[in-house]
Amino acid sequence: MANPTPGRLLPLLSTPHKAGRSALTCQFRCGNACAHDVANTSENSYFGDVVKEALSRRGVLRAGALGALVVGAGVAGAVPALADDPVAETADAETLKGSGNIRFTPVPPNTDDALTVPEGYEQAVVVRWGDPVLPDAPAFDFANQSAEAQAKQFGYNCDYVTLLPMGKDRALLWVNHEYTDENLMFRGYTTGAAATEEQIKIALAAHGGSVVEIERAGKTGQWKLVTNGRRRYNRRVTAQTPMKFSGPAAGSDLLKTAADQAGLKPVGMLNNCSGGVTPWGTVLTAEENFDQYFVNGDKVPAAQKPYISRYTIPSGTPSGSRRFDRIEERFDLAKHPNEANRFGWIVEIDPFDPEGTPIKRTALGRFKHEAANTTLARDGRLVVYMGDDSRFEYIYKFVSKKRYIEGFDRHNRTLLDEGTLYVAKFTGDSPKEEIDGSGKLPSDGAFDGSGEWIPLVSGDESHVEGMTATEVLVYTRVAADKVGATKMDRPEDMERNPVNGAVYVALTNNTNRTAAQVDEANPRPSNKHGHILELVEKRDDAGATTFAWSLPLICGDPKDPATYFAGYDKTQVSPISCPDNVTFDRDGNLWIATDGNQLGSNDGMFVMPLKGKERGHLRQFLTVPVGAETCGPMVTEDQLSVFVAVQHPGEIDGATPDKPASRWPDGDQPRPSVAVSWHGKGKKIGS
Ligand code: FEO
Ligand code: CA
Ligand code: CA
Repeated sequence: MANPTPGRLLPLLSTPHKAGRSALTCQFRCGNACAHDVANTSENSYFGDVVKEALSRRGVLRAGALGALVVGAGVAGAVPALADDPVAETADAETLKGSGNIRFTPVPPNTDDALTVPEGYEQAVVVRWGDPVLPDAPAFDFANQSAEAQAKQFGYNCDYVTLLPMGKDRALLWVNHEYTDENLMFRGYTTGAAATEEQIKIALAAHGGSVVEIERAGKTGQWKLVTNGRRRYNRRVTAQTPMKFSGPAAGSDLLKTAADQAGLKPVGMLNNCSGGVTPWGTVLTAEENFDQYFVNGDKVPAAQKPYISRYTIPSGTPSGSRRFDRIEERFDLAKHPNEANRFGWIVEIDPFDPEGTPIKRTALGRFKHEAANTTLARDGRLVVYMGDDSRFEYIYKFVSKKRYIEGFDRHNRTLLDEGTLYVAKFTGDSPKEEIDGSGKLPSDGAFDGSGEWIPLVSGDESHVEGMTATEVLVYTRVAADKVGATKMDRPEDMERNPVNGAVYVALTNNTNRTAAQVDEANPRPSNKHGHILELVEKRDDAGATTFAWSLPLICGDPKDPATYFAGYDKTQVSPISCPDNVTFDRDGNLWIATDGNQLGSNDGMFVMPLKGKERGHLRQFLTVPVGAETCGPMVTEDQLSVFVAVQHPGEIDGATPDKPASRWPDGDQPRPSVAVSWHGKGKKIGS
């Protein structure tokens, strides 16, 4: 690639995106993942009263080797250097910024079929399922859909949203299309086996992502789709877009298929959930529940079977399968057993290069990637944080070998191909008997402790006994099992706060955790409502291999004694359930989107200051329509607008086009849409 396209500005605050609810959601989103046995049957600890020796071993050595060079101003998450400290610090509210200046009347919990924002705020749809993306796309016609049209129109179930600015009033909007709800898209749909071929082709085309050009409406915080002119960057990426592999596993035997004997050219991307942006302005989009698109996982060669089950790839042809194999044989693992290895990656896409080939970056490992958020280590190496969103899965980070160099695009675009992939291990600092599953804080006043990043693979060098580097990258879950990573309550989004330097992880829920399996980092059994973990790396260096952590937010009804809002008066906070995606505003306040509210009301978006007296004062900023989840929250750099993806409105058991559960946004069939909210008098969002 050439240097950044004229018009390309540095990314805004990086932001992204989503848990469990109706049977419909379970089937279409995750292929009924929750109904299956937990994939992680490894014996490694649920917590870690194990770790302390390893912690000091690696962490302290590494600390001395790193200088305090700070690079990359403008990069999301580049943090100011703090005083060197040889020991990992605890996350101390007093040292964290992020008090913000939050003043709005919270939106109360509700079950309205509406996008509801606080008094004084406005909201509008920016782009909806079926809206033309390519200039020659036809207008959307629910009753007369075609694959050809869908491949030019905005895809289904929008998730990750990010803005790539082209100036103050113009930008490219990147949006992921995670999955399809065929029974809401097509009248009379029953199963993949009975679907028409055209319906299956439409579904293939409705996955992927979109790039659309948008512009500010007047001088407000509203943004609209550009509907005329060249729209030269507008693009659809689908499950059928030619892609390429790069990094250490590219070309390996595990990625070769009959159609691609070099193992270099995968086709399409699937179940792209959330994502992130790179410092050079490209998008990282995360393939999540890719397993559900395959059939006959039980018919792969015997040696491959353990890996198939570790990734919950279906046996036979389950009735909920979309049956993509009816259109493309590659989805039948009996015929093409390696095809599933070609999904589950982080994909890099350059929205400013509409002809560019998306790149699956194998150095970042293969699992059910929720997102991929970047920052820089103190020495300038690129760091990518990633969660594996399933029950009892792990938290990862990648650290590049080389440093980011501002403006040196050609060099920077090699950074994601060489580096070390780590997995996290958490240790609590309270006695095990005090973590009793009641949610009650231990006697030291916090669920907190220390942790380490355990290296799995560096380039061609495996750090895992009995596995090659390629195997570690392709079967990353298995590698992480072997090194004793900590099993978490569904690690979703994970992102570094550019103001306070701490890293925040949304742990959505895990109703499968038993009382015997609780640990200080996952302290509630049958965790319906989830929690937020705050991680402070040693010396506030994203390149460090040790960290301190604590749980500032344990979600649920504030009246429930097992909830915790960083010590804030619980009569003053909004109820919250199933945190999924996180983002930050310029003041460092934490914004949280939810997926799968288990308190009987719709999902929403919340903001919580992180510093000082206001720390823990969580307030609901908006709610989404019936059946929808809140995805991709994105607060713009000028803080005049907040974007939100309203995913799967009306996804309620029993809903069909003849009996829709939601009629949002147009009073007709529900259409997943990206919306924007702004203050009617131009105030900063939330202030
Ligand atoms: Fe696609 Fe983890 O939510
Ligand atoms: Ca998510
Ligand atoms: Ca503790």
